[in-house]
Amino acid sequence: MVQFQIDEERCIQCGECAEDCPAGVISMDDYPKMTNEEGCYRCQHCLAVCPTGAVSVLGRDPDASTLLEKNMPDAARLETLIKGRRSVRRYSDRDLDKALIDELLHIASHAPTGVNAQAVLFTVVREGAVMQVLREEVMAELTKLKDDGKLPEGMVEQYIGMAVEMWKKEGMDIIFRGAPHLLITSAPKDAPCPVQDTHIALTTFQLMAHARGVGTLWDGMVMMALSLIPGLATRLGIPENHTVGYAMVFGEPAVEYHRTVQRGPASVNIVK
Ligand SMILES: Cc1cc2nc3c(=O)[nH]c(=O)nc-3n(C[C@H](O)[C@H](O)[C@H](O)COP(=O)(O)O)c2cc1C
Repeated sequence: MVQFQIDEERCIQCGECAEDCPAGVISMDDYPKMTNEEGCYRCQHCLAVCPTGAVSVLGRDPDASTLLEKNMPDAARLETLIKGRRSVRRYSDRDLDKALIDELLHIASHAPTGVNAQAVLFTVVREGAVMQVLREEVMAELTKLKDDGKLPEGMVEQYIGMAVEMWKKEGMDIIFRGAPHLLITSAPKDAPCPVQDTHIALTTFQLMAHARGVGTLWDGMVMMALSLIPGLATRLGIPENHTVGYAMVFGEPAVEYHRTVQRGPASVNIVK
């Protein structure tokens, strides 16, 4: 049920909702009308574009949305956030507030998805104690693989093989980097853009996390562990019909960065 409703007292009949509808399922009579509920993408552009807040869709109250005017971030500060975000590899062992994690996930669910599928699943470890059990399980499995000579060539001396050695000799965790939390995005294999959707969701989560003082790390080592340990994805509750996007660890940083790095120039190919 799309529940497209117009508050006729607020509607100024500008036609913007019909004009902007990407599915072309709104037409203008005197007032806007939804002509094909099945064709609606559920993108809420009609609610967002209405200058007077006259459109409600999917049961959403337009007055519950944040007004964009005067509330958008300053571009210079956003640039500092993008350039100042660092991969955090040192974490405090304090858990983040669960409400903060939930809020970050809620915000990340606003990331765009192909055909507005909104099918990204956020698999999250919200408690450091759960993370510690997982860490020990994963390390035990990887140690066994190494001891049994079952690590793929190229991973024996480096990556996973090295991680096992560091764990054994120094109790150092270079798989999860000692982080108290883990996030893995996945999406149904038959979604229009499962890989892209999962990565965009993590990128969105990451930027918002850093804006709130939470450190993150894209974690290829966890991805390797997922590919090497049979049943690990299932043990984490990731559905069989899902493509795993990527893994990210996060938590309260035990490191503070004081300035942006200086990269670039961007590698650009100008089409003439
Ligand atoms: C897809 C991806 C996978 C990564 N995997 C790891 C990893 O397994 N371990 C690690 O320490 N860093 C990992 N990184 C972090 C990169 O090394 C890091 O982004 C890069 O060195 C630049 O540093 P910065 O993120 O602080 O700008 C990964 C980054 C990306 C984007």
